[in-house]
Order: sequence, then C-alpha cells, then structure tokens
Amino acid sequence: MELQELRRDLERLRERALADFAAAPDLAALDALDVAYLGKKGELTVVLRGIGALPPEDRPQVGAVVNAVRSAIEAALVERRAILGTAALESRLGSEAVDVTTPGRRPPRGSRHPIVETAREISRIFGQFGFVDYEGPEVEDDLTNFQLLNIPPDHPARDLWDTLYVDIEGYLLRTHTSPGQIRVMHAERPPIRALLPGRCFRYEAIDASHQTEFFQVEGLMIDEGTTLGDLRGLLDQFAAAMFGRDKRTRFRPGYYPFTEPSVAFDVECVVCGGVGCPACSRTGWMTILGAGMVHPVVLQSGGLDPERYQGFAFGMGVERISNLRHAVNDLRYYLEDDLRFLEQF
Ligand code: DAH
Repeated sequence: MELQELRRDLERLRERALADFAAAPDLAALDALDVAYLGKKGELTVVLRGIGALPPEDRPQVGAVVNAVRSAIEAALVERRAILGTAALESRLGSEAVDVTTPGRRPPRGSRHPIVETAREISRIFGQFGFVDYEGPEVEDDLTNFQLLNIPPDHPARDLWDTLYVDIEGYLLRTHTSPGQIRVMHAERPPIRALLPGRCFRYEAIDASHQTEFFQVEGLMIDEGTTLGDLRGLLDQFAAAMFGRDKRTRFRPGYYPFTEPSVAFDVECVVCGGVGCPACSRTGWMTILGAGMVHPVVLQSGGLDPERYQGFAFGMGVERISNLRHAVNDLRYYLEDDLRFLEQF
C-alpha cells in the first residue's frame, strides 16, 4: 500500500516537474527549477533519501521508479534548456546584429594650413614662368641679412626692420627673405629665376596686423638685359592669376636699400573694386608687395658683374595675400592653432 502511494507521488512529481519546465520563461528560471527538483535539498533528492527507510524487499522496486523519474526529469531539463538557449541566442543575434549595409564612419581629414596653401599657390603661379623654389636659413648672419643687401651697420635703413638677435655674435633671426637672394646668386649662375618662401621674424608689438613671426615669398630674376618692364609684366600676370583678370594694378615709387629704383606694387582693392573702403583705407588700392631692380651693390655682393647682368627682385607677405583671398582680418588667427579657424580651409 505504501509502495503504491510512493509510486503515485513520484509520477505526480514527474508531471509537475515537466509542466514547470515547459512554463519556465528563461534559462534563469529553469536553473532555479533544476535546483528545486534535483538539488541537494530538491524534491526528488528528498524522496531518494527516504528509500533507506523502506523495507529491504521494496527498495529495488522503488529505486527503479525513482531512477526512471529522475532520468525523465533530467532529459526534460536538457531539452528545455536547449530550446531556451536557442531563443536567447537568437534574441541576442537580433539585437546585436551588425548591419553591413550601414555607411562607414568618415575618418577626420586634415587640410593644409592657409599660409602653406597660399605660399604654394604663389609658387605654382611663378613656377609657370620658370621660377624655382629655394630655401634660406631662418637663423641668418648680419652680413647676409643686411650688409650684403646694401644696409651697412648703423645705417638708418636698419630702422625698417625691428630685429631679433640670437646669442651668437653676428647672427640674428632673418627679418625678411631677401638674404636668400645673396645665397642663390652664389649657388647659381644666371639666368636665375628663384623663389624663396619662408618664415621671418621681427620684434613687434603683436596686434591684428603685426606678428613676431610671419611668412614672405621672395622672388629674384637675373639675366642680361632684364628690365623694369619685365618685372611689371610678370607681376601683372601674377595679380591676374591670384586675384582675377579684371583687377587693375599700379606701380608706386618706393624705397628699399637693395633695389634701385624701388616700387610698391598695388592691386585694385578686392573688397570695394577700387571705389574706396575701410579695407583699403579709402584709397581703392591694396599694396601687395615691394619690388625693384636689384641694386648694383647687391649684384656685386652676389659675385655678379653689374655691367653685364641686371635683375629684379620682389618680396611679399604671405599672410597679406591670404587675408585678401580668404577675407581674414586678423593675422593672429594664423598662429593660434584654433581648429574653428583652420577647418575652414
Ligand atoms: N625685404 C622687404 C621687406 O621685408 C621686401 C622686399 C622689397 C623684397 C623689395 C624685395 C624687394 O626683394 O625688391 O620689407
């Protein structure tokens, strides 16, 4: 009688377990049921322990039933676990899926600094006339920066350049790219068509139009029979290429110790078209560069015979050209490394 009851209980236990497993919503719930039925204090385990209290002759029979029930429960667990596991995997796959059709993320791309870009554009334009880029040193000697360019020590013309000196006697930070003229004359034989872009330094109080560091491009042409007319023609072509064919240009008399005669080269104001506005101080003109015929003394400094060779030279501020091209009104932007500025180029 007791045996019959035990069998029935075990059958019920099996059915209940199977129904519970089928109802388990996820793997965590199933794990809890596993413990509840088969764990150390699980329902089936408790029954199994109870077998010891049965009369010895009943034990094998009950043992067989208990084992069969246990196998059934274990099999049901494995099956349900597989089903829930697949479902969990599928839902993960669904939520973590990689959409291979999504467009990629664009890597941030740098751009050339506006000064470099403008200097290259200047080189490109003069390059079309056969001018080749050269480089001079930023730490220059007094001799080449001044004396060989016809600016003797203590000459009042030195006041044109507020100079930064270095701790070595006779050396300074070049105040302009003009000393490159001397170096090119010594390195090459005429005909010479040289362009010298580079950084220059001056002792300045910094404001919107003055920096202690800035860039210039120097030009030098030397040949037999070179004239001021050649210079004018070349600069007109440059202005047309850089600022547009419709712009008027003019020469004004100027003064530089290393050229004779010296001129300032003006282009019709790119803002007002020559009418007169604040950008051109109401003159209608903007001065682009200084230029002139290379002084005979400078030709001699370069080891050339002024009776045989003539040449012209010019020097322009790259920031000035860039300001006009991009409507920038403050030099300080160029050296501030502010991405809000630089990203616009
Ligand atoms: N070196 C001059 C300056 O820094 C610019 C210049 C003027 C260069 C006339 C030249 C030139 O070659 O002929 O102000």
